Amino acid sequence: MLGVESIDVAYGHAMVLHDISLNVQSGEIVFIAGRNGAGKTTLLKSIAGFLKPKKGSIIFDNQTIVGLPPEKIALSGIRYVFQDKRVFTTLTVRENLELAAYPVKEKISDAIKRVVEIYPRIEKFLDAPAGGLSGGQRQILLIGRALIGKPKLLLIDEPTEGLAAGTINDILNVLNCMKGNVSMLIVEQNLSVVGMLSDRIYIMQEGKIIKEVADKEEMKNKEQLEKYL
Ligand SMILES: Nc1ncnc2c1ncn2[C@@H]1O[C@H](COP(=O)(O)OP(=O)(O)O)[C@@H](O)[C@H]1O
Ligand SMILES: [Mg+2]
Repeated sequence: MLGVESIDVAYGHAMVLHDISLNVQSGEIVFIAGRNGAGKTTLLKSIAGFLKPKKGSIIFDNQTIVGLPPEKIALSGIRYVFQDKRVFTTLTVRENLELAAYPVKEKISDAIKRVVEIYPRIEKFLDAPAGGLSGGQRQILLIGRALIGKPKLLLIDEPTEGLAAGTINDILNVLNCMKGNVSMLIVEQNLSVVGMLSDRIYIMQEGKIIKEVADKEEMKNKEQLEKYL
């Protein structure tokens, strides 16, 4: 469904990604793990169209998307949940969802239904300012917002970063609930989360993919995975 082939990405003259190739199949949850500065966010931004690779190709649903602007890539069915968890704090949760529903012409009632399905507790916050949500609830709002318009692939950058253990469980439930309905490529440094949900893992180091892990036992073995980081 998504195929990244041999891309190189730079900020100005500073090369950050070197010859990256990966793929995501329909329905899969694929994780990217790696230390800070490995290039994980740069990779997601490149797939979403915010950075243009110097070379290589990116194919989504049999179409070349490399070089397309971010809004075209979004409309082709790829949504990107940024690392910074930014919501419109002074708008209500419902209004945050309305803003995302508008460009893809989805009915707001359907958009809200989709978010409530993955996280029923959001219902009582719908008319409260999004600025009052906890970090975990903001993350869930952002994931729910990304589901509007029924994308085929979500790119999610560090969904559990900075969250307490109980809240991480909420995120795990939400992701698990979405599994199978939408493919996901998730950057995650919490190896317990990775072990619980992953179909496959790519390990990044210094702008390269150094390892792909697909063995069920190995994916659940935190100590083993840590050795690659
Ligand atoms: N806007 C930018 N301009 C220049 N260098 C950047 C920029 N953003 C990130 N980098 C550099 O690119 C490398 C990879 O960063 P990033 O993709 O954010 O890593 P990760 O998400 O794995 O922590 C780092 O060395 C970082 O300093
Ligand atoms: Mg990052």
